[in-house]
Amino acid sequence: MTHIATRLAAVKPSASMAASMAAKALRAKGFDVIDLGLGEPDFPTPPHVAEAAHKAALAGETLYTAAAGTPALRAAVAEKFRRENGLDYSADEIVVANGAKQIIFNALMATLNDGDEAILPAPYFVSYPEMVKLLGGVPVLPVCGAETGFRLTPEALEAAITPRTKWLFLNTPGNPSGAVYSEAEMKALGAVLARHPQVLVLSDEIYEHILFDGRTFVSFAKACPELRDRTLIVNGVAKAYAMTGWRVGYAAGPAPLLKAMTTVQSQSVTSVAAPMQAAALAALTGPQDCIATFREAFERRRDLVVAGVAAIPGLTLSPPEGAFYAYIGCEGLIGKITPEGKVLGSDADVVDYLLNHAHVGAVPGAAYGVSPFFRISTATSDAVLTEAIARITRAVAALQGGR
Ligand SMILES: Cc1ncc(COP(=O)(O)O)c(C=O)c1O
Repeated sequence: MTHIATRLAAVKPSASMAASMAAKALRAKGFDVIDLGLGEPDFPTPPHVAEAAHKAALAGETLYTAAAGTPALRAAVAEKFRRENGLDYSADEIVVANGAKQIIFNALMATLNDGDEAILPAPYFVSYPEMVKLLGGVPVLPVCGAETGFRLTPEALEAAITPRTKWLFLNTPGNPSGAVYSEAEMKALGAVLARHPQVLVLSDEIYEHILFDGRTFVSFAKACPELRDRTLIVNGVAKAYAMTGWRVGYAAGPAPLLKAMTTVQSQSVTSVAAPMQAAALAALTGPQDCIATFREAFERRRDLVVAGVAAIPGLTLSPPEGAFYAYIGCEGLIGKITPEGKVLGSDADVVDYLLNHAHVGAVPGAAYGVSPFFRISTATSDAVLTEAIARITRAVAALQGGR
């Protein structure tokens, strides 16, 4: 096909989507597959949120809105930052887009010149490097392994910065590792950034409410107020309110950046659909009890998976501190031989084996930049997770030889 733009050549489709497609294909052949590939809360969206969209549509909220979002929703987002994060942003420092992903896309589109670098600590959310490449930038991927709790250290940050660095991405709690940066760790990174004024910070806080072991959330902008003018806080309703399919994300940041992002938005999707904005408004301003209910369920499932994996020889898992994934080390399986006679040479081989032998779908660590690991989502019922762990246990026990 000769019609595809050259900038697409280096861009991969979403690995978690691909893993999920492979699981679906196997299921279509009649197998009972447990798909732990995609990360979506398995809870229904709270009914009052769905009703708000319905009412808005019936009341005529069916027109284009301001590109940056309805005034009511932007005011509610500003209020959320005040209430939950102790941050003061005015309405022109808030934008709304079709999910956190579109916020990130708009921010990169608005700022990257060809060859500009974005530091994306690995393991990273799969879409970050692909979006950077799509928009002409160069991903810089410092590996932050289990030894540093999957966190970027100030030394690794300093070493990754060049005169071409435009962005540092931080994601806390992190997908796929579940790592959470403490306030002190963020301040230490902030001290490095203070020496490099060309670097903007994108803090992806979409898992803010999914925190374990009594942790409290600190936004990067709160930890490093001196960097406010170059920090973009990215968040959304998808994970906090079980609203992945509603596609509403939001951001707070410096007005000139947001103005440029709004131009990108107005010349592409125009705005988020009006009833979806009404739903997000209801989520942010209505009863908040679902947040605690979801958090408790995710912590219980985290415990279930940590205990299950601890009993499987060859697998390792340091307890995730937040989010709803387990990033499981599988070095101990590399070199082992499957009952079909195949040597497991990589985490992609392990994932392939788990899918085809145990009928459990996962995503290889290679997709997140740190191997050999695989990610499972814990956003499914306790019963399904228990069955998945039992299947993985049996599949690992069936391996022969190796180290
Ligand atoms: C770190 C991170 N950021 C952003 C997103 C996407 O958020 P949204 O659904 O609001 O686009 C995800 C979804 O998996 C994620 O893991």
